[in-house]
Amino acid sequence: MGVSPEPPGQSLGGETIRSVRNPLIQAVRRLHRSNGRLEQGLLLLEGTHLLEEALGLGLRPDLVLATPDWLERQCALLERLPDAGRLRTASPEVLAAAATTRHPDGVLLTLAMAQLPSPTAGDASPGFVLALDRLQDPGNLGTLLRTALAAGVERVWLAEGADPLQPKVLRASSGAALALPIERMTSAELHTRLAKAKGCGLQLVAAMVPEAAGTVRPYWELDWCRPTALLLGNEGAGLAPELVQLADRWVTIPHSPAVESLNVAAAAALLLLERPRQAHGGTAS
Ligand SMILES: C[S@@+](CC[C@H](N)C(=O)[O-])C[C@H]1O[C@@H](n2cnc3c(N)ncnc32)[C@H](O)[C@@H]1O
Repeated sequence: MGVSPEPPGQSLGGETIRSVRNPLIQAVRRLHRSNGRLEQGLLLLEGTHLLEEALGLGLRPDLVLATPDWLERQCALLERLPDAGRLRTASPEVLAAAATTRHPDGVLLTLAMAQLPSPTAGDASPGFVLALDRLQDPGNLGTLLRTALAAGVERVWLAEGADPLQPKVLRASSGAALALPIERMTSAELHTRLAKAKGCGLQLVAAMVPEAAGTVRPYWELDWCRPTALLLGNEGAGLAPELVQLADRWVTIPHSPAVESLNVAAAAALLLLERPRQAHGGTAS
């Protein structure tokens, strides 16, 4: 069963839901899990900021669930809701039970996955791709997606790892996960996809820790303005050897040997933003 709200009553948001056993709340709770999201074709977003981001992207919430207090405080935002019939109120306790966060700020929303950017629409040969190899941590993935959007990444290809549509990733991405064409696949599929992209002229750039063996050079020496796929490895094992081998450029961010590597999202910020830096006149050195 989906979470489409019952018709509202007289007041804005209808009668306040006071029981966690309410079927609408039960359906929202099922969205905490990946199989519940797939089953209902919906995502769960939490907090005023994500509601603003979704509305800013022109997305239409399937349901907005808010506390009476939140409704009072957010009249201006409510006017931007495309369909007030999608609004329901719940007591703070029920809203907290429907949310994954410990202290929700009074609102959550659900959104049809079908509204997200299609990973295959548009330009068949993207100029800037981010490929992530089995990233595990939802916070890292969300942070990375936010930077990817800021850097002008056109496609994100994920080999397994954290689900990009889980509430933690959506929060950490600050809504960027809603704006990027993201495709999740198996490791073997990512390998095939990258090999094909290489055949179409993309340079495959593997991000390596400084001590990595082979022809690794500082990232600022690379011409990032060429069509590029940047490959980043996961938190524990780094990039799979098959992907390192498939790459045709290997770059690193040099740093003190006091640490073995940088956090993957921290490394990604420097690497991804090098492309717009060079495009704005800062040349490769
Ligand atoms: C935490 S690191 C993985 C460390 C892992 N032990 C290894 O040897 O690759 C996760 C990923 O972040 C990227 N990364 C971390 N530090 C980097 C650096 N100094 N330069 C370039 N990429 C880096 C790499 O893609 C790496 O696979």
